Amino acid sequence: MKSLVVREWGEPKEKLRLEEAPLPQPGWNEVRVRMLMAPVNPSDVLMIKNRYGRQPSLPCCPGFEGVGIVEAGRGPLAWRVMNKRVAVIAKDGGSWSTHCVIPAIRAIPLASSISNEQAASFFVNPVTAWVMIRKLLQPPKGSWVVQTAAAGAVGQMIVRLGKHFGFKTLNIVRREEQKLVLEQLGADKVLVGCGEDLIEKIANALGGESSYAALDPVGGLTGSALIPSLRRYGSLMVYGRLSGEPIQVMPGTLMAGMRKVESFWLSEWTKDQSKLTMWRTFRHVAKAMAGGVLLSPVGKTFQFNDFQAAIQEADSPGKIGKVLLQISK
Ligand SMILES: NC(=O)c1ccc[n+]([C@@H]2O[C@H](COP(=O)([O-])OP(=O)(O)OC[C@H]3O[C@@H](n4cnc5c(N)ncnc54)[C@H](OP(=O)(O)O)[C@@H]3O)[C@@H](O)[C@H]2O)c1
Repeated sequence: MKSLVVREWGEPKEKLRLEEAPLPQPGWNEVRVRMLMAPVNPSDVLMIKNRYGRQPSLPCCPGFEGVGIVEAGRGPLAWRVMNKRVAVIAKDGGSWSTHCVIPAIRAIPLASSISNEQAASFFVNPVTAWVMIRKLLQPPKGSWVVQTAAAGAVGQMIVRLGKHFGFKTLNIVRREEQKLVLEQLGADKVLVGCGEDLIEKIANALGGESSYAALDPVGGLTGSALIPSLRRYGSLMVYGRLSGEPIQVMPGTLMAGMRKVESFWLSEWTKDQSKLTMWRTFRHVAKAMAGGVLLSPVGKTFQFNDFQAAIQEADSPGKIGKVLLQISK
C-alpha cells in the first residue's frame, strides 16, 4: 500500500512523503478499508506543522477521516460492514493512505444517496456542527447565533442548521465574495470585515437584540468582539485557533449578564460519550447529511500523487470549499 508519512514535524512541502509499506492486516473487530477519498482539514495541516493540540507519535500518517470500501476484517463487528462503503473515522490519523485499518465500530456505513465527496467529510465538521448546536447550545427558534469564519465548512453547516431549525445567524466573514455564498444558503445577516469596529457593527446588525450564543474558531480581536453581543447567561463557544491570537475580555464584560466563554473539541467530547450516544449522533448526522442540512462545500479534488498541490490549496486563504484527495476509484 501507499501512505503519506510524516517522519519529522514541519512544513508539509518538506516533511510529507508518499511511502510504500506492506498491506496491514486487521485484528479482531477491526477492518481494513480501501480508501476512496479523504479531505484536507485545517487540523491535518496543523498536525503536520506540530501546531495541533494533540500530536501523535512519529512517524505518522495524517488524515482523521475519509470514505472507502471495507475489504477485509475479523470479528462480528467487522462482518457487519464487509464490502460496504463506509465513512472512516481515523481517531489517531491514517486516512491519507490507500489502505487504513480501524476499529470496525469506527466504520460507518452510509446510504448510497450520500456522495463520496460528502461521505469523505462525515465526521470532523458535521459532527462538530451538530453537537455544538443540537446538543450543547440548543438555540431556540427565532434566537440569534453570531459566528466568525462563517464561510468555512463548519460555518456553512451552522447557517444551514439555522435555516432548518429556525434560529437566525449573524455571520462574520473577511471577503466580500463570501457574503453572497452565505446569503444563498439562507444566512440572515452577513458582516464583511474583522476590524476594530466589529463590536459596534454586530450591535447594529442585531438591532437592539442580543445573541443567544456565539461560535468562534478564529480567536483574537475577532472572536473577542462577539462577547458583548451575548444575552444574559449566553455563551461564546470557541472551537478553533485560526488566528493563533488569544481571546481577550474584560472581566466586567463577562460579569455583566454572567456571560460565559466555553470551548468544544470533538476529540475531547467523543472520549466522554457512550457507544449508544455516538451511534445516535452518527445516525442524526447521516440523516441530516442525506437531507442536505449538513453538507460540506466541495472544492477542488486532487489525485493522491498530487498531495502537495492539495495541501497548498487547502492552506490558502480564500479557497472555495473543502479540498479532497482522490485516493482510488
Ligand atoms: N473543535 C473541534 O472539534 C473542531 C472540529 C472541526 C473544525 N474545527 C476548527 O474549525 C475551524 C474551521 O474549520 P473548517 O473545516 O470549516 O475550515 P475551512 O473550511 O478551511 O474554512 C476556514 C474559514 O476560516 C476563515 N479564516 C481562516 N483564518 C482566519 C482568520 N485568521 N481570521 C478570520 N477568518 C479566518 C477562512 O476565511 P478565508 O476564506 O478568508 O481564508 C475560511 O472561511 C478550523 O479552525 C478547524 O480546526 C474544530
